[in-house]
Amino acid sequence: MDFIEDQRKVIDDLDAEIIRLLAERMKASKSIGDAKRSGSKPVYAPGREAAVLQRRRELARQHGIDPFFVDRLYTQEIIPESRWLQRHPEEEQLMVKETKKTVLTGMRPTGALHLGHYVGALRNWLKVQHENECYFLIADYQALSDHADDVAGIRQSVMDVAMDWLAVGLDPDLSAFCIQSLIPEHAELTMLLSFITSMSVLDRNPTLKSELRDLEERSTMVTVGFMTYPVSQIADILLPRAHLVPVGEDQLPHIEDTRHIARRFNKMYGEVFPIPVARVGDVGRLVGIDGGKKMGKSLRNVIELRASEDEVRKLVMKMYTDPNRIHSTDPGTVEGNPLFIYHRAFNPDKDEVDDLEERYRTGRVGDVEVKEKLAAALNEFLGPIREKRAYYEARPNLVKDALIAGTDRERVLAKETLRMVKDAMGIASYFD
Ligand code: TRP
Repeated sequence: MDFIEDQRKVIDDLDAEIIRLLAERMKASKSIGDAKRSGSKPVYAPGREAAVLQRRRELARQHGIDPFFVDRLYTQEIIPESRWLQRHPEEEQLMVKETKKTVLTGMRPTGALHLGHYVGALRNWLKVQHENECYFLIADYQALSDHADDVAGIRQSVMDVAMDWLAVGLDPDLSAFCIQSLIPEHAELTMLLSFITSMSVLDRNPTLKSELRDLEERSTMVTVGFMTYPVSQIADILLPRAHLVPVGEDQLPHIEDTRHIARRFNKMYGEVFPIPVARVGDVGRLVGIDGGKKMGKSLRNVIELRASEDEVRKLVMKMYTDPNRIHSTDPGTVEGNPLFIYHRAFNPDKDEVDDLEERYRTGRVGDVEVKEKLAAALNEFLGPIREKRAYYEARPNLVKDALIAGTDRERVLAKETLRMVKDAMGIASYFD
């Protein structure tokens, strides 16, 4: 038997043991069985019950196998043999293929969502939700970091964000929609991680730096909570022990920091966290309708997902185009022109876009025609989203149900992680 075969055999034995343990637990947990039979409450089985996981890791250690590696096997992934025997926790991400990963990503509830959110984030989330166990976080604590004076706005936005998520097709039966403040473990883990996060991590984070500059420009008070929000975002990601974080480009520094802190924790106290990887979408990001890189409601340069047909038309007519082109017979520039960036992102009729670009370059089309076609394409795209949003606006209880169910689901996992964290650190068991 060669080495790989030999290792496989060990894993098989481990699996048998785990299955036996699981079976025992299933028998013991009468209440779950009862709940299942009565059909009163959906039973959520993340498949990684903490005790079983710990036991599995323990067995792995006894057999000299990387405990992380065993975690992955638990979700039955396929591991290429060449990678199989490497023992670097970071590498473990590469071994995970075609498997159900845990995904966490989130948004601050600071207003209804717009086309920029769709291109930069939601489109990717829609792609990952089918193959993975997803947690979509409404980070209301993070919103407080610079909106503490507008709690009413945050409250409204929690519902708006959830409705927009539903409207674009995120499915609360597949994915958990979670409210950060309803899971106190977010705050607790933030505090624990703050003790192993160096100030220089925050000093170096370019996203934080640029946001600090923005606050300064608006002469907004910079709070302690704002300075340390990256730590809370690290906790957001590590709390469900996420493997994958689909985000917009601007969030990459936070993911880098998360990887750093996860490694540090694992090294200092024992392996609890997978090292998460970021996934950025293919089209990166949209620009504002004024051509600006930053998009925001306060900048009045966005088209909201809930905008009416008429609003969409009006906003498109106001869009910034090539400023050097005065007459429709002047040759125009397509590159970097918001009109064409939006056409490329939302107009499914590629021939039409090619044709418009060609005529724009050669001065054979007026801005109005390009804009009218864009408004039509956007309205085509937004039609179903608008319809679905109206459906949920009329049924706020469905939205609340989705939020409650999702939050409950994350809370189970959060408790489990916090227990693992405290066990690893050796705290909260001073009297054992
Ligand atoms: N910082 C993100 C934003 O500005 C929101 C967020 C909070 C987040 N927690 C997260 C994103 C965890 C990804 C992962 O929208």
